[in-house]
Amino acid sequence: MATADPTPPNPLDPDEVMSAADAALAAIDAAATTEQLRQVRNDYTGDRSPLGLANRAIGSLEPGQRKTAGQIIGQARGRVNSAMAFRQKDLEAAELEASLLAERVDVTLPTDLHPRGALHPVTALLRRMSDVFVSMGWEVVEGPELEAEWLNFDALNISPDHPARGLTDTLFVDPITDHKLLRTQTSPVQMRTMLSRELPIYVVSPGKVFRADEYDATHLPMFHQIEGLAIDQGITMGHLKGTLDHLAKAIFGQVRTRLRPHYFPFTEPSAEMDLECFVCHGESVGNPECPCRTCKSEGWIEWGGCGVVNPRVLAVAGIDTEVYSGFAFGMGVDRTVMFRNNAPDLRDFVEGDVRFSRSLRGGAR
Ligand code: DAH
Repeated sequence: MATADPTPPNPLDPDEVMSAADAALAAIDAAATTEQLRQVRNDYTGDRSPLGLANRAIGSLEPGQRKTAGQIIGQARGRVNSAMAFRQKDLEAAELEASLLAERVDVTLPTDLHPRGALHPVTALLRRMSDVFVSMGWEVVEGPELEAEWLNFDALNISPDHPARGLTDTLFVDPITDHKLLRTQTSPVQMRTMLSRELPIYVVSPGKVFRADEYDATHLPMFHQIEGLAIDQGITMGHLKGTLDHLAKAIFGQVRTRLRPHYFPFTEPSAEMDLECFVCHGESVGNPECPCRTCKSEGWIEWGGCGVVNPRVLAVAGIDTEVYSGFAFGMGVDRTVMFRNNAPDLRDFVEGDVRFSRSLRGGAR
């Protein structure tokens, strides 16, 4: 790069001033980067540059000569400054172009080479069902999977000779004299909650349950339930129906429901909640031409058990049955995923293949 001429031109000599300006223009042309141009600006237009010094020298000229000198120097500096501005723009544009090229990203390259997991559809549905209740002001509580026989059965009015207590259904834990078992239902959380909380109670409790069942397409020895319990003054079967209808709509969309009389020792009256089959809407009933796999051509799908809490259960927890009443419900979550998402084989739920979870998009419909 050209360096500045240390001797300033005579401000009254147009040739000298012109050649100082030409030197500046040549240096501007030669600057290949904005950084170099910055140096050129300093060397050729700064206070200590030849033109800068010549400009300053005007002040010490005879007053009559100042105008002429001012014109000569002013013109020369004007040329240099505008050339500087043009060069600056060109170099900036070129540098921007170069950096865009250098930082170019190939958007066609594969980005995420690490496959992501997926939420298990049972987890996703449990969370979604819990959310429905949380949004109504209920609380989510949990109970232990290793449970006292008394809480799993006796406290819920399931007498010692009830068939569900047999070793065939229930997985007792050694030594059997400890009366500990893997809970067969989430219902013992009802009693735990009644014994530990102030009234009124509005809770749901999702979790794992265990039964000595076969491992096949429709049975698992470990599956999931969600339990609900509401205890307050003036609770009726109507509140139960309204609450479960709301849950059904939140999970399945517009769907008809019905309560079918049933028996559970811890509720009285008891019922089973059925959903109108959302695949065939009952049209497969008595119509062998178009059978429905989802409801097995029954028109209704059994969803869960429910009822008005048996006063005997409330009394065990020391609740005044003259003042308080309640409703409870419990449904199988794996089964719900099965018919909601058309997943035909329960074994897929526990085999840990992420493609299963992905195919159900985390339990979304
Ligand atoms: N625990 C019952 C079962 O495992 C389901 C159930 C029925 C729960 C009625 C309830 C209820 O809370 O009120 O089959």
